[in-house]
Amino acid sequence: MAAKDKPATTRDTIVELRGVTKSFASGEGGELPILRDVDFAVARGESVSIVGPSGSGKSTLLNLVGTLDDPTSGTVLVDGEDVSALDEKQRAALRSSVIGFVFQSHHLLPQCTVLENVLVPTLVAKERNGAEEHARQLLDRVGLSHRLTHRPAKLSGGERQRAAVVRALVNRPSIVLADEPTGSLDRESAENLAELLSELNREQGVALILVTHARDLAERLSRVVELRDGKLVEVSRGTEARGSETRGPETRGPETRATR
Ligand SMILES: Nc1ncnc2c1ncn2[C@@H]1O[C@H](COP(=O)(O)OP(=O)(O)O)[C@@H](O)[C@H]1O
Ligand SMILES: [Mg+2]
Repeated sequence: MAAKDKPATTRDTIVELRGVTKSFASGEGGELPILRDVDFAVARGESVSIVGPSGSGKSTLLNLVGTLDDPTSGTVLVDGEDVSALDEKQRAALRSSVIGFVFQSHHLLPQCTVLENVLVPTLVAKERNGAEEHARQLLDRVGLSHRLTHRPAKLSGGERQRAAVVRALVNRPSIVLADEPTGSLDRESAENLAELLSELNREQGVALILVTHARDLAERLSRVVELRDGKLVEVSRGTEARGSETRGPETRGPETRATR
């Protein structure tokens, strides 16, 4: 990992937040601080789960990383770029080439087929050569090759979320951001999706930042951080966080869903 021509952030770190504060207007004319002086770095190929109670700022944090919103103060770096220095067009280019998004609700276009849906991000990509072939391979990989020409309404919830994951991956992002991706799925579909995401991380080195309440999913990732009172706290860290020994009482939040 010898340093040569690029600063450390660009080389080894895909996402970095430095002293990030985010406040929203409180309604009574004041400011409601949601994130307070948060420092957070994610290495290339790393997988991180963000937990915390409802309203603690998990989606707010993910939106900042996804360049969809700006901090009140502090710096957000994505792939070495200071996001605040980019205009909307440059941000769109960064999102398209570096970031894949998976939301709780799949957001597939109802009038388009599965194959058309997963090709949508490639319409704005710089490099479109082989896009359809790549999309077909990914759909095959997640067991959806028999669903290429179906519209989302014909798919199960789990199949729709798998299609949404393929759409997030089609431009070969360096990082996938997922906001409660298994939140609307039954247990078996949730486990399949969790396995898929962690395999993609292991096999293709795609970094993952997931917001999840599902402990099975969080445990497949290398690191768990928790948002508490606007601060980001490291809950567990290891190259392999899976296994019963990592299940300390501190990871059992009141809203952690019982899965067995
Ligand atoms: N655009 C916004 N304007 C005002 N308040 C917001 C906005 N987005 C989020 N909030 C508030 O910020 C807090 C954190 O929200 P959010 O990040 O969605 O939490 P989480 O995803 O952890 O449930 C909540 O109190 C929410 O109401
Ligand atoms: Mg949220």
